[in-house]
Amino acid sequence: MKRILSCMQPTNNLQLGNYLGALRNWVKLQDDGDSECLYGIVDLHAITVKHDPAALTNATRSAAAAYIAAGVDPKKSSIFAQSAVPAHSQMMWLFSCMTPMGWLNRMTQFKEKAGKKKDQASLGLYSYPVLMAADILIYQATHVPVGDDQKQHLELARDIAASFNQHYAGGDTFFTMPEPVIMGEATRVMSLRDGTAKMSKSAESDMSRINLTDDADTIANKIRKAKTDPGAVPSNKEEAEGRPEALNLLTIYGALSDTSAEASMAEFGGQQFSVLKNALSDLAVAKLTPITSRMNELLTDPAEIDAILAKGAEKARALSQPTVDETMKLMGFWS
Ligand code: AMP
Ligand code: TRP
Repeated sequence: MKRILSCMQPTNNLQLGNYLGALRNWVKLQDDGDSECLYGIVDLHAITVKHDPAALTNATRSAAAAYIAAGVDPKKSSIFAQSAVPAHSQMMWLFSCMTPMGWLNRMTQFKEKAGKKKDQASLGLYSYPVLMAADILIYQATHVPVGDDQKQHLELARDIAASFNQHYAGGDTFFTMPEPVIMGEATRVMSLRDGTAKMSKSAESDMSRINLTDDADTIANKIRKAKTDPGAVPSNKEEAEGRPEALNLLTIYGALSDTSAEASMAEFGGQQFSVLKNALSDLAVAKLTPITSRMNELLTDPAEIDAILAKGAEKARALSQPTVDETMKLMGFWS
């Protein structure tokens, strides 16, 4: 049986990239029916940068509401907060002691996030991928559906698993090797203001992204103002070359209509961008606003969300405990 595990950080609002690159695929995998699915809200990861405790609690609830509104069914999948399962932090220390700093020095996300102020970045931001490896490995996850940007972190988790297996398990496959699942048409949704930067919930300009909490007018306005170029909409891949903003809008349209960027090119190629933008606006509003309203409805009953998170955490603790116990034993610890 497959065991699917994936997580998101509860920072600010989820954006279209989270939905198309990850969340939507979580729902598909859940509905395939032959797997145990665990979907975490990684609140411990969210404090690698300064945080406000009350805002964090609320953001975790909102993320849970977004998961459910997008189709994650708490009856089929476990939804939990990372901080409610102490094994994540426990295992992280054990993994930290077997992860060479050289492996972490290669992580591009740290370089991007720390920027020029490397010395001021927290130790947590640096060791973030080790905590992510713990998130995955304690559940013996077989598949991890994520966006393209997480590929490198997944490789690190696999390296840590292999290293543990070799050093502490006599070469046996104690930790399952997790497979990244990078699926769908939009594995890397780009900013609406700059086709070379990833759409991100932490980018400064709100106009660069579509949030799952945006209303119809806001979505339409952001798409209308999205950056394009002076040409007509490209009709094929060759014409789209070197035109990242055009390709991004066509890819988003393809993903939201369950087709492809090529199909969008065939439909809109040669026309003005305003035609594509109008169609994309209508489609995005039709697909996203039902999720937003469902999310708002769920957030009117925080006790219900808290109960779902409590149940999810209980399941997550039970599923991870045997692996944690055995890891402690293999490493020579008392339990
Ligand atoms: P994060 O917002 O960094 O917690 O990301 C949560 C999930 O959404 C991860 O699986 C990411 O790979 C995915 N994701 C985030 N931004 C994008 C994007 N712009 N395009 C595609 N996937 C994304
Ligand atoms: N690092 C991921 C991101 O920023 C979030 C994450 C943390 C994650 N732990 C995970 C994703 C475990 C998949 C599995 O997008």
